[in-house]
Amino acid sequence: MGRIIIFTGKGGVGKTSVAAAHARKAALMGKETLIVSADMAHNLSDLFEVPIGKEITKIEERLYGLEIDPNYEMEHDFTDLLTSIKKMIPDMELDDGDGNLSGFEMFPGMEELFSLLKIQELYESNWYEVIIVDCAPTGETLSLLKFPELFSWYVEKFFPIGKVAMKVLRPVGKKFYKIELPDTKAMNDMEKLYVKLTGLQELFKNKDIASIRLVAIPEKMVVEETKRNYMYLNLYNYNVDGLFINRILPKDIDNTFFDEWILLQEKYINELKNIFGNIPIGFIKWYDIDINGMQAIDRLVLDVFNDDNLFEIKNIIPNEVYEKNTEGYLLSVNLPCLSKEEIEIYETGKEIILRIGNFKRCIPLPGIFRNYEVSSAKLEESILRIQFVEQKEEN
Ligand SMILES: Nc1ncnc2c1ncn2[C@@H]1O[C@H](COP(=O)(O)OP(=O)(O)OP(=O)(O)O)[C@@H](O)[C@H]1O
Ligand SMILES: [Mg+2]
Repeated sequence: MGRIIIFTGKGGVGKTSVAAAHARKAALMGKETLIVSADMAHNLSDLFEVPIGKEITKIEERLYGLEIDPNYEMEHDFTDLLTSIKKMIPDMELDDGDGNLSGFEMFPGMEELFSLLKIQELYESNWYEVIIVDCAPTGETLSLLKFPELFSWYVEKFFPIGKVAMKVLRPVGKKFYKIELPDTKAMNDMEKLYVKLTGLQELFKNKDIASIRLVAIPEKMVVEETKRNYMYLNLYNYNVDGLFINRILPKDIDNTFFDEWILLQEKYINELKNIFGNIPIGFIKWYDIDINGMQAIDRLVLDVFNDDNLFEIKNIIPNEVYEKNTEGYLLSVNLPCLSKEEIEIYETGKEIILRIGNFKRCIPLPGIFRNYEVSSAKLEESILRIQFVEQKEEN
């Protein structure tokens, strides 16, 4: 079974450098490795000092690179999907004549979707044992990761799978939504899209295959953002199995200017250690020169990534756990660094909706919860506990 590791963190903290060192290490261990940049501001080429583009390029023995271009993917590899999406929204001008897909801004996350679909396709090709994904800074990565769930929810709600439902909906659809509902052929495409999206979620949330590693530097703003990021990744039930703290000042600098900085860094390193608990943490020193070219990557590998277990899944914390108890059922969700004022909880009968800021997570409930309702919800020591009790019979 292949492995996917996604790197994320605040802008400029060293995501690309850490991702590249992982990729190089995997190749040196004899694994067929692909490093993929899903950041629109690609810089793998600069780092490896080899031209890497929208087609897979060989960098070294067993090491390949790709800088995903979502427009190119839409036009080349996913034309069927694109056609079915275009059919759904006929009024939308999607082509600006230069092959760019204008109008897609209406569909936030569409670019991210095609990047994810490409990674899924590469994984399913079985060519690579390790796929390393270098992501854009936090915010964009979070929208990337929440997207499959959001989109399949949207597809399910607006285009219920099943031909009968489609026929009934058609006139209503035309009149009120100004969206032409897909004909039978297109609907088959919709079904395909739905199945693909479900597969996408399953792949990225499969804790035996995919994990997320965070990169941070010991500075206040970065630590705060790392904590939020970690909480949201838990909210969406992704497996975080590594943290890399970069740009750590050496303690033996003979210059009093850095004394205070070294103390501050220590404080933030300790704060991160406390939060990340059992998750393995890698420490990377601040080098006296930037990280450029294979020699520099190799030095980083030698200094920090010399562990042959680097690609094992390190930490599987079950984020969503159901237990039976005396009152009924208890659902526990791991949500580190969250205060209870920030969370809103809704129940719909079929799912529990957790809303934190702009993020919404729908947790589908197992069938046995049909006759149960929420009686209480508590946030204690990073764990949200939602108690379900059996509904009373109404007379
Ligand atoms: N430990 C380090 N010592 C010295 N220079 C470093 C270190 N880590 C990263 N750099 C340099 O800092 C710059 C940013 O690193 P990198 O590109 O890996 O960050 P990033 O998080 O991917 O940035 P972006 O958010 O822009 O994608 C690069 O020039 C890199 O060479
Ligand atoms: Mg980068």
